[in-house]
Amino acid sequence: MNHKDALKDPVFKTLNEVSESMGLSSFVIGGFTRDYLLSKENPKDIDIVVIGNGIEYAQEVSRALKGSSEISVFKNYGTAMIKYKDLILEFVGARKESYSEDSRNPKVASGSLEDDQNRRDFTINALALSLNTEDFGDLVDPFNGMGDLENKCIKTPLDPDITYSDDPLRMMRAIRFATQLDFKIEKDSLNAIERNKERISIVSNERIVDELNKIILAPKPSLGFKLLHKTGLLHYILPELIALEGIEEIEGQRHKDNFWHTLEVVDNISKNTDNLWLRWAALLHDIGKAPTKRFDKTIGWTFHGHEFIGSKMVYKLFKRLHLPLNEKMKYVKKIVSMSSRPIVIAEDFVTDSAVRRLIFDAGEDIEDLMTLCEADITTKNPKKQRRYKNNFKIVRQKIVEVEQRDHIRNFQPPISGEEIIKLFNLQPSKEVGIIKEAIKEAILEGEIPNEYESALEFTIKKGESMGLKASNI
Ligand code: CTP
Repeated sequence: MNHKDALKDPVFKTLNEVSESMGLSSFVIGGFTRDYLLSKENPKDIDIVVIGNGIEYAQEVSRALKGSSEISVFKNYGTAMIKYKDLILEFVGARKESYSEDSRNPKVASGSLEDDQNRRDFTINALALSLNTEDFGDLVDPFNGMGDLENKCIKTPLDPDITYSDDPLRMMRAIRFATQLDFKIEKDSLNAIERNKERISIVSNERIVDELNKIILAPKPSLGFKLLHKTGLLHYILPELIALEGIEEIEGQRHKDNFWHTLEVVDNISKNTDNLWLRWAALLHDIGKAPTKRFDKTIGWTFHGHEFIGSKMVYKLFKRLHLPLNEKMKYVKKIVSMSSRPIVIAEDFVTDSAVRRLIFDAGEDIEDLMTLCEADITTKNPKKQRRYKNNFKIVRQKIVEVEQRDHIRNFQPPISGEEIIKLFNLQPSKEVGIIKEAIKEAILEGEIPNEYESALEFTIKKGESMGLKASNI
């Protein structure tokens, strides 16, 4: 089959000319070819395999593209990268690889195109398009990767035990591709992942997290988590989720299986947000339920304080996996710690003061918090489903009303500490803090509106009740 159409961009003509002038063969391989054949948009990352020296070839390409490209050479890896317009071209010389037990970094020797295709992870990633004049655009597909694309199947070119054991990151990649593309993993391959699962321990957390994030960002992340669970990889990566699995029954009372519930919540939220960190919050929103689970004879199963415990676990988990420990982590922590707040409000009569407190505590993240709570509705009882949704609709309406009136979202105290000091002729002291806190409380409780005049009047009265006299009005 010829696929000249994939190679319309003039940059491929340049690659062809360099191949000619150097007397070398070269091919486009990997994600570009795969995604083109899947009729996806042409990706901006282009992997080129050269039968010969990949670095020298890349240097020649860089010269041919004149000043408009930027080349980086990685001598240790025998690779080079060129940034050109919005494209990233990656070059490698065709190679054979041999791996040792304890490392993902292979010993490398130069080889043929076939050797190079053999060493790749999946048949669908080993598809190559020729850049050579005699067969420009021809597909070189020794493992029937095209058939696997059509049958939606992830399969390794070699014995899967070898492919996965050589580079265990590929186990994560298999699951990630299956999730992103909605493909099945071939049975032998899936069994091999299960057999090689403990080899994941030689992969750095950063690489694991890269794949995990791609799974979380897929349209239906549960596909990936089910595979991680089935193969046993999840036990190594996120044991906190495994701890949520199972239903216990005491005296005829059962609780829901919080692992499968969590996967539903993540799928639900993924229909409404592409925010990676909100999806992480959904994944972790119930992790505190395992350590807080108790059975009480009168009220049944309880998970008291699971939001607080869960939010503490977020930090440890982020640290262990080398996820960022910056404001993203704080955001996930905050959403997890507040994840039941709107539910509590919705179950009760929705008062203005409860809504004001919710807005005050959630601040800018109020929308995201509501999105999580709505995704958290996984009941299969249509009546309850309708009731919960409607309750959240009421909370959302209240949030809009209260916010329009009281401007709590970016709360700034209407009277500053400085003003309180001046007003009562005080030194900076505990009293200032007490008065400030009282003003905030009065506003949140709805005793006074969030505006200067009312707050001033309240401040004077509050000061008087503490034996202070306002002098500088
Ligand atoms: N590859 C591999 N084993 C790995 C990583 C990559 O065999 N552990 C090969 C595959 O042939 C892959 C190519 O290198 O197609 C490029 O890898 P990469 O850029 O990481 O992935 P893509 O397949 O391009 O897909 P994506 O851009 O979606 O990550």
